[in-house]
Amino acid sequence: DARPLLFSGMQPSSDSLHLGNYIGALLNWVAMQRDFDAYYCVVDLHSITVAQDPKELRANTRQTAAQYIAAGIDPSECTLFIQSQVPAHAELAWVLGSITGFGEAGRMTQFKDKSAKQGSDATSVGLFTYPVLMAADILLYGTEQVPVGEDQRQHLELTRTLAQRFNSRFGDTFVVPEAYIPKESAKIYDLANPTAKMSKSAASPAGLVNIMDDPKVTAKKIKSAVTDADREVRFDPENKAGISNLLSIYSSLSGRTITALEQEYDGRGYGDLKKDLAEVVVDTLSPVRTRTLELLEDPAELDRLLAVGADKATATAEKTLATVYDRIGF
Ligand code: ADP
Ligand code: NA
Repeated sequence: DARPLLFSGMQPSSDSLHLGNYIGALLNWVAMQRDFDAYYCVVDLHSITVAQDPKELRANTRQTAAQYIAAGIDPSECTLFIQSQVPAHAELAWVLGSITGFGEAGRMTQFKDKSAKQGSDATSVGLFTYPVLMAADILLYGTEQVPVGEDQRQHLELTRTLAQRFNSRFGDTFVVPEAYIPKESAKIYDLANPTAKMSKSAASPAGLVNIMDDPKVTAKKIKSAVTDADREVRFDPENKAGISNLLSIYSSLSGRTITALEQEYDGRGYGDLKKDLAEVVVDTLSPVRTRTLELLEDPAELDRLLAVGADKATATAEKTLATVYDRIGF
């Protein structure tokens, strides 16, 4: 395969991905699966770094994979798999953990934030070494480009450091990956609190649009989105966060420019904009939801697709791991 290799994944941490995941990740993944030799993973090993319910995790993992496919990830075009089905991830993470400084890992700001919130006894060692597992995810496949948001930049930097360190100690083994900034991928904000990122850990369910929500619920959330007191449809994230967020969602899903949308809604009320946007969002997400439910109704076929992906991923990953084991003296 001559295409550049790309690895990306999301955690199966709830029963539904949200509109931020759809616009910020899935739409880009679908667009990239042709130009890249793409590995798209459901990173369940990462999910157990915080307490999980086994039954829920198992269901959420399959439902997340089904949502990838339903959103347009084509298992025959890319390698779609579940992380725990490829043991090389955990094995390489152990090796990389052994060349990571304790202080170096301790400087990861995401860990510092999360552990500060939880307290140190509630914080697992797995959460501490999470960025090392992420490095293993990337390095196993010779990933050249990693699509990363701002929050993952420091982790990607650690991945690069570990790859270079291993290469200089044990001989050239890993490709040192570069950050790939998907062009103009919008950041989506919470509908009820439009200065906060839309996130599964949203303060109120009203702000979070889920792929698996009932379409009526979705429409209602859009129509109830927090806006501002004037009536001007104008993109101005600093002063008009709510309206700007609605415009970027609209633009991302319709392919129309923000300027064109501002013109169309010039002099009309927010109600019109919300009503039309609700339709756009429902028209986009409800087929994804329906297709997800269909895929879940045929568990044998979903398992078959995931097993094909796991086999493909294993074949690549095991080669890297064999070289690593040889180089370090196993
Ligand atoms: P969450 O913030 O809900 O925990 P994750 O951090 O697991 O979501 O993000 C998974 C993927 O979805 C990442 O690629 C991330 O960039 C993207 N993503 C998450 N939230 C948003 C958002 N609000 N806007 C755009 N992209 C997002
Ligand atoms: Na997150």
